[in-house]
Amino acid sequence: MAAHETSDGMPLGIDFGGSGIKGAAVDLTKGDFAGDRVKIKTPRKSTPDAVADVVAELIEKIMKQHPDATGPVGVTVPGVVQHGIVRSAANIDKSWIDVDADEVFTQASGRDVHVMNDADAAGLAEARYGAARDHKRGLVILTTLGTGIGSAFIHDGVLVPNSELGHLEIDGHVAEKRAASSIREEEDLSWEEWGDRLTVYYRTVEKLFTPDLLVVGGGVSRDAEHFLHLIDIRTPIVAAQLQNRAGIIGAALVAQESADS
Ligand code: BGC
Repeated sequence: MAAHETSDGMPLGIDFGGSGIKGAAVDLTKGDFAGDRVKIKTPRKSTPDAVADVVAELIEKIMKQHPDATGPVGVTVPGVVQHGIVRSAANIDKSWIDVDADEVFTQASGRDVHVMNDADAAGLAEARYGAARDHKRGLVILTTLGTGIGSAFIHDGVLVPNSELGHLEIDGHVAEKRAASSIREEEDLSWEEWGDRLTVYYRTVEKLFTPDLLVVGGGVSRDAEHFLHLIDIRTPIVAAQLQNRAGIIGAALVAQESADS
């Protein structure tokens, strides 16, 4: 049996995003998908019950490919998640607030589901298998630049959840409303203009927390060569390596580790 597998089978990771809900069976020994990724469109009104139905359907689809994926299921949510309960909903349906998401997904799927913040999952995956895997000591901060800005704090390899650095207020603005990737698209900013905004953002993060390494994730990290060099800060800053696989891999990892503990 591989180091991370238990007799309960391989874990699943599911990533709940604004446009799609995606999942896969995850091989934690390799830190990668064990098979194909399955995707279903996010329901237009993404209420807890509607999303729970999609999660249950995704699990069934993945199980057809991987009947051995009977382990715990990790699900990411783009909001604060405190012990399974969703506490914020900046970019999702407001009806999520104060919902026990662990319970809703476990009921809908009949599986042991563990819910966590999306950036926390991605950050842990990058720390374990990706861009920060050689930084075992000190503070690594991963930020995801997408519809909003997500963040993960990892100190000496341990995640401190729900850091929410996208909601730092800088010069009277909520940071993600100025510097998220969606804002670059909406305001049609050039890479240079966006780079200036990112410099303001990351200088604030650096001033407040003095990280040893910053990792930039989110879909736009694929375009890192266009903007990473424009961010003028002291801290080393690198692109994420697992890109859109990080959330799913991290979700499965957290679910497995909480089931084992
Ligand atoms: C939410 C975070 C989330 C991030 C990325 C922010 O608006 O508050 O919880 O991680 O978006 O989805």
